[in-house]
Amino acid sequence: MEEEKILPNHIGIIMDGNGRWATRRGLKRSAGHKAGADNLEKLLKHIFNLGIKYVSVYAFSTENFNRDKEEVDYLMNLFVKYFSSKNKIFVKEELKVIFSGSKERLRDDVKESMAKLEENTKNFKRGVFNICLNYGGRLEIVDAIKKINRDIQDNKIKIEDINESLVSTYMYQNLPDLDFVIRTSGEIRVSNFMLWQGSYAEYYFTDCLFPDFDEKEFDKALLEYSKRNRRFGGTK
Ligand code: IPE
Ligand code: IPE
Ligand code: MG
Repeated sequence: MEEEKILPNHIGIIMDGNGRWATRRGLKRSAGHKAGADNLEKLLKHIFNLGIKYVSVYAFSTENFNRDKEEVDYLMNLFVKYFSSKNKIFVKEELKVIFSGSKERLRDDVKESMAKLEENTKNFKRGVFNICLNYGGRLEIVDAIKKINRDIQDNKIKIEDINESLVSTYMYQNLPDLDFVIRTSGEIRVSNFMLWQGSYAEYYFTDCLFPDFDEKEFDKALLEYSKRNRRFGGTK
């Protein structure tokens, strides 16, 4: 009973610190991204086994295109490899995989591997895994405004219909609000992650670098969440 009350419905993870994890070991930054991807697989299993329904991860921000071409290319190749090789795992775990972000600037093979994974998992109900790729929170709101404007012009909606719940349905994905957001690697900022959905989320910042953020670290974060008093502007 109590567990039901304390478990967040939708969690977000800003998976930061892969580069530093590698540099500290004398490795190339790419080795950190690989270690981060491996860690994510274990972590997801754990999170969905706990009964959490929605997990959103920040895999690549729109601003991450400002990195060296070598690193961007490595990450894009890693995404293509990850999405096809993990397909079986998502099917076995009955997880629906969806993506949030802009399709602009993404290579065709990346877009194809994303579409395939979405298609192969679209009927699963055990949990939803939302991957924010080429994602920016402000751009998401700008894109929503454009879509709303188009629907007004097409007479699908009227200006009077616009309210917070309607705007939520115009985000990249129609997801419930975030309850809990974790950021690894010691940076205390949101870096443009799910601004609309996170307006009343609880935030947790840890120095732990993402490749080291294992099940035990996650449980520690969850314990902290269970102690938070969410007031939503009230007094309770
Ligand atoms: C997060 O790790 C992964 C991505 C942004 C793609 P970083 O690559 O930002 O690692 P640090 O912050 O440089 O250590
Ligand atoms: C945020 O991390 C984006 C992802 C984790 C994908 P960054 O490393 O890009 O963020 P900043 O630059 O430190 O704010
Ligand atoms: Mg970083």
